[in-house]
Amino acid sequence: MSSIVTFADKPPEGMIQFGIGQPSADLLPVELMREATEEFFQTAHPEELNYGVLQGDQRFRDSLARFLSKNYGTPVGADGLFVTGGNSQALDFVCSHLSKPGDTIIVEEPCYFLAFQIFADNGLNIVSVPVDEDGLDMDQLAETLKRTRAALLYTIPSYQNPSGRTMSAARRERLVELSKEHDFLILADEVYQLLSYYDPPPDALGSMSDSGTVLSLGSFSKILAPALRLGWIQTSHGMAKRLTGIGAVNSGGSLNHFTSHVVRCAIDMDLQQAHLERLRRIYQARVEAMDAALKECLSSHATWVRPDGGYFFWLRLNENISAQELRHKALERQVGFLSGNLFSSCSGMQNYMRLSFAYYNEGDIREGIARLKPLFD
Ligand SMILES: Cc1ncc(COP(=O)(O)O)c(C=O)c1O
Repeated sequence: MSSIVTFADKPPEGMIQFGIGQPSADLLPVELMREATEEFFQTAHPEELNYGVLQGDQRFRDSLARFLSKNYGTPVGADGLFVTGGNSQALDFVCSHLSKPGDTIIVEEPCYFLAFQIFADNGLNIVSVPVDEDGLDMDQLAETLKRTRAALLYTIPSYQNPSGRTMSAARRERLVELSKEHDFLILADEVYQLLSYYDPPPDALGSMSDSGTVLSLGSFSKILAPALRLGWIQTSHGMAKRLTGIGAVNSGGSLNHFTSHVVRCAIDMDLQQAHLERLRRIYQARVEAMDAALKECLSSHATWVRPDGGYFFWLRLNENISAQELRHKALERQVGFLSGNLFSSCSGMQNYMRLSFAYYNEGDIREGIARLKPLFD
């Protein structure tokens, strides 16, 4: 596992940094947030600035349930929603509340690299199972479960970060079966589920939360704005109640209660829906620009599958090429990406690179990919 790379600072002038997995400034909805905030204050009752109920504001959960039911295409009940401060916080809280140090968490290989630290902070032992074109490999998972007692399994079922792969419907069902058989909880990070640019993905794992083993983590970071620090867990009613026992929730009340009022207004005014549809159109154009540029510049050096959603292209290079070395050379040419080793918990993925198309427009995407070409000559 490699050291942590984050992008709290903006890239230097002139640099095209495909390592950044964030929306570009033109996609951050300032006007939308102003309208929704004004709407909230126009009708706000002072009590709405008090501590909120532990599971999350009822009116917000009702609005969120309606929004998710429409966009997931499966019924979502407000009773099974628990409001969070986004998926990072949700992961940390769930690990600390539902596992103990020394427990094992199964992760995907490759896996969202910033989750590794959350699992390490909670003293969890990481065991990985590979992802293939249909997502997490269920036969290998079944083998692993024969010899490993796991408390948790972490998966990004749709448009995985970093591989862009989506778990098939059949595998989702098998995963839930295995979780019941082997008594582990599934932490399904469904942060990209709504960012589909072609056919929709299979039903969110959240739709299987009646099983009692699924916690589906969703976030407004990718569909509205990361700064909101607002998300949700869709799970069984019993598990949602159990989460209210988290110490910090008990002490502080509903997580990010104020933001949830504003986002409720954004949902009820249909601003969130319109924004999501805009994001889908714009990201689709960016996916296509990156795919075309890669075909033009890198097709003899790398293979990839065009992602149908999410933020990322995952490029496989020849076995003997180190993406880490290439990354250093790329930075000299004012272009950045993340090397595959960051996403591995077992020192693998050395010859892979992750490119995000979310932070740049089509022109910058073409320019950045053209800068990568000479690195292979
Ligand atoms: C897979 C995955 N999970 C979680 C996050 C962070 O989510 P949040 O902003 O809701 O904490 C990201 C952001 O890149 C991500 O890619």
